[in-house]
Formats: sequence, structure tokens, C-alpha cells
Amino acid sequence: MEYKIRTVGVLTSGGDAPGMNAAVRAVTRAAIANGIRVKAIYRGYKGLMDGEVQEFTTQDVSGIIQRGGTILKSARSEEFKTVEGRKRAYDVLQKEEIDALIVIGGDGSFTGARALAQEYNVPVIGIPGTIDNDLWGTDSTIGYDTALNTIVECVDKLRDTGTSHERLFLVEVMGRDAGFLTLNAAIAAGAEAAIIPERTAVAEQLEAAIGQGRRKHKNSGIVLVQEHAIEGGAKAVAEIIEKYHPEYGTRVTILGHLQRGGSPTAYDRILASRLGCAAIQALLDEQRSIMVGVQNNEVVYVPLTKAIKEKKDIKDDKWQALQVLSI
Ligand code: F6P
Repeated sequence: MEYKIRTVGVLTSGGDAPGMNAAVRAVTRAAIANGIRVKAIYRGYKGLMDGEVQEFTTQDVSGIIQRGGTILKSARSEEFKTVEGRKRAYDVLQKEEIDALIVIGGDGSFTGARALAQEYNVPVIGIPGTIDNDLWGTDSTIGYDTALNTIVECVDKLRDTGTSHERLFLVEVMGRDAGFLTLNAAIAAGAEAAIIPERTAVAEQLEAAIGQGRRKHKNSGIVLVQEHAIEGGAKAVAEIIEKYHPEYGTRVTILGHLQRGGSPTAYDRILASRLGCAAIQALLDEQRSIMVGVQNNEVVYVPLTKAIKEKKDIKDDKWQALQVLSI
């Protein structure tokens, strides 16, 4: 007998990312257009376990494409990592007659989705939503482009005051274990150097930061430091530099959570709209346990396991470009 998806659940999980709302809108409208009911789940997996479920109509997602954050709220749940927690979640899926689950989030959220799929044979589809861009199998994640533009805008502003006061600015950038935001923002903002976790020789990176950040013909500089590239982040780098070069007038700016906010860029809205539609199409194509992504501007289906486990590398030409262009 043909297995038909009648009702799909959708949730946002982990760190919020601009464009998540556009994805929720796309999932909702694409599902309804295909005769599938949509049940919105609030507060990620926590809300799923607690039964925070509401049916959505197309009107429920009106006026949200331009809004940052997530109207569904987000959470990180320790309980969902346990077998008991996932049993509670499955009971709610059954009670609500939800046949398939769409999870908008990052690798932690996908790990939870995959466990639920394995234990209860629930069809799950992942939509990559994280500013970190650290998921394998997609060129970009929803929210990354917006965060990148936010960082560049902030660094441009810091450059104004940095040049006026002839100071060295160290700017700490988010990214969890990945340096995509840091490296790309450094190139786009014309920074003197970047310190990222993918380049393990931190001592050399530090040397470059000191050298490029303050050469003879430059009396100010900007160095971007990925939050986890070095223990203690940008503050730790500042301490080292100040010790040897107190004359640099080093200042630290931690951009923090402002990188996660704001209205999504057109790029992120389009990406989220495409991937939301693709997630519903994937269910119609009887796909299970996959992430929808884009590669070379084409929508692709990637096994969830690969998206979680494989490591996406930074492009070496970009790293080289930064070294050459910061001289
Ligand atoms: O994954 C998104 C992200 O913003 C990371 O870049 C950062 O390390 C982390 O989340 C911060 O998490 P929290 O909001 O829980 O402090």
C-alpha cells in the first residue's frame, strides 16, 4: 500500500539564524499547496516533547519572510538526547498524527532528528539553518550570508575608529568549530589577518596577525579572531600582543549574538524559500533522513549522516588570497 504523508511537523532548533522564518513560511505554503497539513512545533525538541503544537494555515506565515529570529522559538534540549526524551517526542508525534518531521537547524539538531528516525522510523528532512555554515553537502546554510554581512558592516565601522586612533582592533567572530564567517568576513572587510581553527598553526597565525596588523606603512589594523581558534578568544590574543607591543593600542570587540540577529538578506530569503519547497518535494519523492542543500546553485538531497559527519573545508584559495591581499 502506498504510504502517504498527510501531516508534516516543522520546528526550528539550536541557535537561531536569519531566514529561519522564510523557511517556515516556505515549508508551510509548499505543504499546503500539495495537500499536506502543517503542524508547527514551538521551542524545538523541548516543545515537541511538551506537546507545544499548533496547526498552521498559509495566513499564519504571512509577513514573516523579512523577520530575523524564528517565530517558532528555538531551544537546545539535553532531554531530547536521551532515549526517554525521544520516546516522549514520538508519543506527541503519534498523538498529533504527524507523519513526518522537518527540522530547521544545525548539526546538533540533525543528530537528534537522525536518532528519532532510527528509533521510530519517522521520515525526517533537515533544512540547514545556522550562521556557522558548517554543514557538509550545502554551499551555504540559511543565515550565513546575513551574519557575514552583519560582521562586515561592524568591521567597517571599527575600521573608522581604528584608523582615527591608529589602533589595532581584534574582532571576535562566532562560528563554533568553523572559520567560514571569520575568513570570509576578513576578506570582505579587507582585514589584515584572520585567526581560524582550520589552520592549526595558531602561533604562525598570531605572528601574521601581529605582522600584518601593524606594518611600517600601516599604523592601524583589523584582525578577525574566530571564537574558538584559540583558548580565551580575542582577549587572549590581545594579551599576547599587548605584552610585546603595548604601543599598538590594541582593542578587543566581541561581536557576540548581534551576529545572529537582523532581517535576512535577499540571498538568505531565496535560499530558505527554495529549501523549504525542496523539503516538501523530498517527502513527496519518498526521501527519508536527508538534508536538502544547494550545490553549485542546484538543490540536492544529502544523507543526514553525511551532513553531520563529513567536514566541510575552507577554500585554500581564499586563505591564500587573504594572505596576499593583506600586505
Ligand atoms: O551555532 C550558532 C552559534 O551562534 C555559534 O556560532 C556559537 O558558538 C553558538 O551558537 C552560541 O550559542 P549560544 O547562543 O547558545 O550561546
